[in-house]
Amino acid sequence: MRILVLSDLHANVTALDAVLEAANGRWDLSVCLGDVVGYGPDPNEVTARLLEMGTKTIRGNHDKAVTGVMATDDFNPVAKAAVDWTRAQLKPEHMSWLAALPQGPLATEGIVLVHGAFQDEDEYVFTPAQALDGLLDSTAEVTFFGHTHHQGGFSYQDSQLEVLQIRPRNSESFAALRVEHPRRYLLNPGSIGQPRDGDSRAAFAIADLEHQTVEFWRVPYDIAAVQERMRAARLPEPLVQRLVVGR
Ligand SMILES: [Fe+2]
Repeated sequence: MRILVLSDLHANVTALDAVLEAANGRWDLSVCLGDVVGYGPDPNEVTARLLEMGTKTIRGNHDKAVTGVMATDDFNPVAKAAVDWTRAQLKPEHMSWLAALPQGPLATEGIVLVHGAFQDEDEYVFTPAQALDGLLDSTAEVTFFGHTHHQGGFSYQDSQLEVLQIRPRNSESFAALRVEHPRRYLLNPGSIGQPRDGDSRAAFAIADLEHQTVEFWRVPYDIAAVQERMRAARLPEPLVQRLVVGR
């Protein structure tokens, strides 16, 4: 079974459509690690795509903030402005779907999904020390996480923790990781709607555990078109500009 792993879509439907075109239907099931909305100009369109695809989705901090499940006290003013704008745009049926999204960890089809850390959905996992708990505690050998918007991950076996550098180069569309039993993995597909790892292309992954592979993909999309919609919506300028640099 090929599982399409989506994360941090952040209301960017142009990036999501480029991802779906690249994946070209060569997947059996789609999952999403949260942050469907927030920052981007297309909250209804992105939510509608996930509903159409029947994507198994857990909530991210932006989904919680927009739906009022979580206070926005910890959000910076730019993120908060985007939350308020998104709230005003969302159709009631999309708002209620987002509000009802389950919290990770969620086990499905042999993998586990979390938004942030395994023990805390709102914690950022950047370092090996932060990754260790998830690698040890997860109920599956392969766990996917998001939230940092950095494609890559960690693996663990025999008390050795490895940082995985598996991002495709600029000239490549994907890089494949070979998954070995009983090694444990904590993998981030990267962000579709607002990458922050220095590569502005939309990021996602396809997991095929029967064939022991996880593909990490990057696809270009029409960033200028998204920026135009963001400016028309008067979303904060720093959010508009960061799409180009991928930071
Ligand atoms: Fe996010």
